[in-house]
Amino acid sequence: MAIRKVGVVGCGLMGSGIAQVSVQAGFPTVVREVSQPLLDKGFAAIRKFLQGGVEKGKLAQADMEKTLANLTGTIEIRDLADCDLVVEAVSEDRALKRELLGALDAACRAETLFASNTSSLSITELATFTKRPERFLGLHFFNPVPLMKLVEVVSTLRSAPAAVREASDWCRAIGKTVVSVGDSTGFVVNRLLIPYMLDAIRVYEQGLASRDDIDNAMKLGCGYPMGPLLLGDYVGLDTTCSIAGIMFDEFREPRFAPPPLLKRMVLAGQHGRKTGRGFYDWSTNPPS
Ligand code: 3HC
Repeated sequence: MAIRKVGVVGCGLMGSGIAQVSVQAGFPTVVREVSQPLLDKGFAAIRKFLQGGVEKGKLAQADMEKTLANLTGTIEIRDLADCDLVVEAVSEDRALKRELLGALDAACRAETLFASNTSSLSITELATFTKRPERFLGLHFFNPVPLMKLVEVVSTLRSAPAAVREASDWCRAIGKTVVSVGDSTGFVVNRLLIPYMLDAIRVYEQGLASRDDIDNAMKLGCGYPMGPLLLGDYVGLDTTCSIAGIMFDEFREPRFAPPPLLKRMVLAGQHGRKTGRGFYDWSTNPPS
């Protein structure tokens, strides 16, 4: 089945980015949020990014307006009924996803392809919340979605090869490179990235090196675009801690266990960029 119209559920950091890259690639896209203020916030982020592209000379103003005209916001699930692909990008709450996927399953056609952008929950389990496990898979995008080139396409034991092919083709059509992954917690990227980030926090916690020296070590020593502590702030320390917790539950390996400092920072509301404070102070630009 050809994908013509795309639905995205959730217009937060990831959902807004996915909706943006979809509509920029020419797919009429509907994005659903639970409330108008959240929808407005997501649209403002998309507009800001596109405007940044105009200012950098990467996008013509007219193309920006054309792109935005193809993007529809809604707070109703039923407005996604005629989509060929629906990508779920709501927060990592199993119960929330269960309810939402059930409602989407009832609203959409049987052949509509469903994908979840979860970074740590089991795609196999999420698929059981619908009556279409053969047309359900994972599409794991990376933050910031418009700039990061990769999508992990996650198939389960029940995903139909045709569904995987259609989803992979759509990812390529929106300009992403695809890697194919089986359904295992964290897939490939987070399986490798999360223990690395947790180790950086442990090194800092043990006083082995300062924040800046840890980040500079990995930036300048390994050529990474950001050091691991800055990346933690950027991704969100709450998100990092939650993914680590889920991975620890799954694998029972100490390398996935969230370090005490990370847990304390999350409890203290120091979640990184989103709360203005993490390992860095984000009220200044660049963070200090
Ligand atoms: N419109 C169009 N292009 C834009 C743009 C815009 N609004 N803003 C930036 N760009 C372009 C720039 O022009 C530049 O293009 P060029 O390479 O052709 O010159 C490119 O994007 C990079 O932009 P900047 O120079 O402004 O930014 P940086 O070079 O500082 O890079 C970054 C920013 C891409 C965020 C980089 O720091 C990076 O890659 N960081 C690591 C991010 C990462 O690891 N993400 C994954 C996190 S893990 C995850 O998401 C998984 C989850 O499950 C946890």
